[in-house]
Amino acid sequence: MNAILQQHQRVLSGMRTTGRLHLGHYHGVLKNWLKLQQQYECYFFAADWHALTTHYATPEVIRESLQELFIDWLAVGVDPTKASLFVQSDVPEHAELHVLLSMITPLGWLERIPSYKDQQQKLTDKMLDTFGFLGYPLLQSADILIYKASLVPVGEDQVAHIEFAREIARRFNRLYGNPPDFLQQVMSSLKKMDKASMQRFAAWRTAHQEHGDKEACQSAKGLIAGHASLGEQDREFLLGYLEGGGKVILPEPQVLLTKAAKLPGIDGQKMSKSYNNTICLREDAAVVTQKIKTMPTDPARVRRTDPGDPVKCPVWGLHQIFSSAETQAWVQQGCKSAGIGCIECKQPVIKAVLEEQQPIAERAAYYRNKPDEVQAIITEGAAKARAVARETLGEVKAAMGLGKIN
Ligand code: TRP
Ligand code: SF4
Repeated sequence: MNAILQQHQRVLSGMRTTGRLHLGHYHGVLKNWLKLQQQYECYFFAADWHALTTHYATPEVIRESLQELFIDWLAVGVDPTKASLFVQSDVPEHAELHVLLSMITPLGWLERIPSYKDQQQKLTDKMLDTFGFLGYPLLQSADILIYKASLVPVGEDQVAHIEFAREIARRFNRLYGNPPDFLQQVMSSLKKMDKASMQRFAAWRTAHQEHGDKEACQSAKGLIAGHASLGEQDREFLLGYLEGGGKVILPEPQVLLTKAAKLPGIDGQKMSKSYNNTICLREDAAVVTQKIKTMPTDPARVRRTDPGDPVKCPVWGLHQIFSSAETQAWVQQGCKSAGIGCIECKQPVIKAVLEEQQPIAERAAYYRNKPDEVQAIITEGAAKARAVARETLGEVKAAMGLGKIN
């Protein structure tokens, strides 16, 4: 994909403010964000409304998580000059779009999303028979669609939600994207391009619509995105014309699947807050050391002289992330021959985790002492986000018959 096209793509993702970040978040989600912010226009936000859907009874958790979340992001290198960082509830346009989209959202679509019943059954200590919880995926759709984001980096567990957002966008465009003068608008947008571009566009459109040629579709999209004489409105008309529906007011987002970090928790299961087996991104060195020291190992190594197998040991999972090839070879050999003990084997992991955490902790300490600076970053992030969000909302309202009466 060429550079111009990439710049035009907006990336959006959010994290709920329901607790502290751990190493799994860092090695999975955040490192990915650090790459994305170099390539795309990025929007990263703290989903405090989404946090309330399950944590409405503990506002203190929301508050604390919110403060620490931004410190963590900044400390690992999320760059506010490259990405807009903001709090969801500072951009009320998300909520307004949620209300508007709720008018066209069939209840059955929400009830059918697997995470709804799953979570309700799993989180039995919470009363989740709420309107807000049912509407969780719709709020998430509004988060995404309000920025016309094209790429949404999320984990496997969120894929159904993004698919839902696509369905909502499609339904919205079908209902509101066909103003009576659509074809006329398309023609006047087409005429803004030079003749050669017009002809190429027409040929690609035919190839796409009549032969399902995906490459032609991509090329046509590239042409529209890169053509300097087209405005945002023209692009929407032409995109709708290309895809065969009406005007695309809300483009369908795509999942950018974040591979889960293969980071085992301190009990060997996947590292996750719900298993209570995490090493926090910022955690006292003594606690980290203690947690790793007491990690279970291959159960076959009852005595120091019993040989083991790294594959059966969660500590090996950490070596795979944190250790050099050389150290890994030392583990393999030493474990299988009972040449090393488990305490010895854990030392390089402890050292590597602490080394990774130290600069993060230092930068976090800096931001902790500068709450005003953090606040300024998220105030500015919200302002940038709102400018985009307002524009979309204006179009959505107009399409739905709201807004100015003349
Ligand atoms: N539901 C997401 C999660 O639990 C958080 C989230 C809220 C989100 N809104 C979003 C992620 C929009 C991506 C895009 O991880
Ligand atoms: Fe695990 Fe290392 Fe002990 Fe082998 S030597 S069981 S890899 S901790």
